[in-house]
Amino acid sequence: MTIDSPTLGGHPFGTLPGESAEVSRQLSGLQGVKTGSAAVLDAYDQAVMGTFGRPKRVFTRGEGCHVWDADGRKYLDLLAGLAVNALGHAHPTVLSAITGQIATLGHVSNFFATPAQVALATRLGELVGAGTRPKVFFTNSGTEANEAAFKITRRTGRTRIISTEGAFHGRSLGALAITHNPKYREPFEPLPGHVEFLPYGDATALAGAVDDTVAAVVLEPIQGENGVVVPPAGYLAAARAICDRHGALLWIDEVQTGMGRTGTWFAHSADGVVADIITLAKGLGNGFPVGACVATGAASTLLGPGSHGSTFGGNPVAAIAGLAVIAVIERDGLLQHATDMGEHLVRSVLALGHPLVADVRGRGLLRAIVLSRPIAADVSDAALDAGFIVNAPRPDVLRLAPPLIVSAGQLDTFVAALPELLSSAAAA
Ligand SMILES: Cc1ncc(COP(=O)(O)O)c(C=O)c1O
Repeated sequence: MTIDSPTLGGHPFGTLPGESAEVSRQLSGLQGVKTGSAAVLDAYDQAVMGTFGRPKRVFTRGEGCHVWDADGRKYLDLLAGLAVNALGHAHPTVLSAITGQIATLGHVSNFFATPAQVALATRLGELVGAGTRPKVFFTNSGTEANEAAFKITRRTGRTRIISTEGAFHGRSLGALAITHNPKYREPFEPLPGHVEFLPYGDATALAGAVDDTVAAVVLEPIQGENGVVVPPAGYLAAARAICDRHGALLWIDEVQTGMGRTGTWFAHSADGVVADIITLAKGLGNGFPVGACVATGAASTLLGPGSHGSTFGGNPVAAIAGLAVIAVIERDGLLQHATDMGEHLVRSVLALGHPLVADVRGRGLLRAIVLSRPIAADVSDAALDAGFIVNAPRPDVLRLAPPLIVSAGQLDTFVAALPELLSSAAAA
């Protein structure tokens, strides 16, 4: 691991030109550069609710595929803020788009429109397929995109929702209602009802459960939080046909898989399926909070005036971030690059022939290294100590969701370190 100078030379936020000493002191102190990790974490324990447990590191700077912690250590970010920083950290196009927009017009409320908001809605509609007459409701997160989708389903006049075992859709009460994990759900019951969970990937179970009382079937095209679980080929197409048969909406949650992460704009488009509702967030804003609920065809008009809202949703700064991300992914050929790098990673990890690696699954740059023993959390900790950020969504799964700009050489450094990380975790 590289240890940089503790002052992180070139850090842009040390002083704030034209500001009083007091304002400068308060804001530059936020970077944690001068205090180091331990002091920030002590303050964290006092000031921040303990929903996430104690953070493992304090990060103060990022550039490309690397981040630096408050003690000056450098890390290769192979998780990209949980599949968010598609273009890496401090991408110059995103930076200039955001700063240009905020310097011009930062917020106006949804009483008014802005060109950036309309342009992003139009662009997303084009990516989904203009022929499907798509319309967008903007949010600030994936959870909120799913809340909007949930409300659309209620406007069908039906209330039954079919979700799947292992599904994750967010933590608000509506999103929890369609999320499967009892540990997340049960402490907060009662949740909105009429939700049933079927085995993921089982088209026969779906065909047996869906009838004319079902409002919607909600599916992740690949279950990210459940450990990057890829359904059998033809599952999404079968779901589409079953929904069509019964007039139910097909709602695809692309919050983790969308915006190029799996090598296509949306993971479900690889299956040739058109969804009624697509929810997006994470990679859309490269770290600037923005989500979207895109509805097509008849579903796009189910929410009318007064039926839903958001103060920040569609904010022009968030919208310009989304436009910048889409433009760069297109310009730099990052969909193909994500496919190529994903395949490179699979080949290199499997070539290790390591007895603790049972499989590598996923698509594009959303990948799981499946271990033959439940030591993924220890491997993830060992990786962090060695300067690599990955995570362990299941006891036997290491997840990688690096920036789409990651190079083969960067992936190779992780693969070269992997045998030692596995051995040290196995010995612990
Ligand atoms: C598939 C899926 N849907 C929804 C969410 C919730 O998104 P957010 O955390 O932005 O609210 C997540 C987050 O991991 C997700 O993976």
